[in-house]
Order: sequence, then C-alpha cells, then structure tokens
Amino acid sequence: MIAIGSDHGGFLLKQEIVAHLKEQGIEVIDFGCDSAQSVDYPVYAKKVANSVLKKEATLGILICGTGIGISIAANKIKGIRCALCHDTFSARATREHNDANILALGGRVVGAGLALCIVNEFLNIPFSHDPRHINRISQIEDKF
Ligand code: RB5
Repeated sequence: MIAIGSDHGGFLLKQEIVAHLKEQGIEVIDFGCDSAQSVDYPVYAKKVANSVLKKEATLGILICGTGIGISIAANKIKGIRCALCHDTFSARATREHNDANILALGGRVVGAGLALCIVNEFLNIPFSHDPRHINRISQIEDKF
C-alpha cells in the first residue's frame, strides 16, 4: 500500500502518479487534495506521514509545487525520512542509504515522464541494511 498526498501545486502530477500506480496493480491511499484549488501542504504531509508511521502504507509520496515545503513539513515528524528527488540516482540512493520512507516531488519542477521513473525507482529499490547506514539513520533518530 502506497500513501500519496499533494497540495494544489502537486495536484496534477499526483493524479498522474495515482493512475500509474493503479495501472501496475499497486494499491494507493490518496489523501488529497482533490482539485487545483489552493490548500496548505502541511496538512497533506501529516496525513501521509501518519499513514506510513502506523504502517498502513509501506511508503509515501508527497507532492507540492517545488517539493520543498511538503518535504520540510514531513521531516518535522519523528520517524519520517522524506527525500526530495528530481533524478533517479537520488531516488535509488535514498532508499539504499537513508531508508527514506517518503518521496517528495515538485509538480512544477519535473514532468510526468521523469516523475514516474523516479517513483518506480523509489518504490522498487530496497534499503541496503548496511550497518554503516543503519548506524547513521539511528543517529538521526537519537538526535531528534
Ligand atoms: C504553493 O503555491 C507552493 O508554495 C507550494 O506548492 C510549494 O511549492 C511550497 O514549497
């Protein structure tokens, strides 16, 4: 199960990603928003983060205009490691190294073609379980 949410700046890209995931038979919980009308991105960051933290969803996807505001909001929530990625290398690396549990995208930054490649990479690459990375992630959790 994948949790997804966006503000108005990410709404159109969210619709493309939801359709793409459903075409592949991946179950999606869409937390909104439901139109291009202006809304506040922290609301959607919290909904998707809570779904991931309570293990309703295995991973989350958040989209705003830049991906910046919504990733900042998500990363304020303990246990969330939200990675803003606009290339496939970063999407792969953040799963392998950071065990990122939410992908953030900017709907005004990337086109749907690239965004779907980034989503595929993020959802399909497992965490490496390398002790170096486990140690670093636990240091993040300890500090905050
Ligand atoms: C909304 O206009 C815009 O500020 C928002 O989508 C996002 O880019 C914030 O970081």
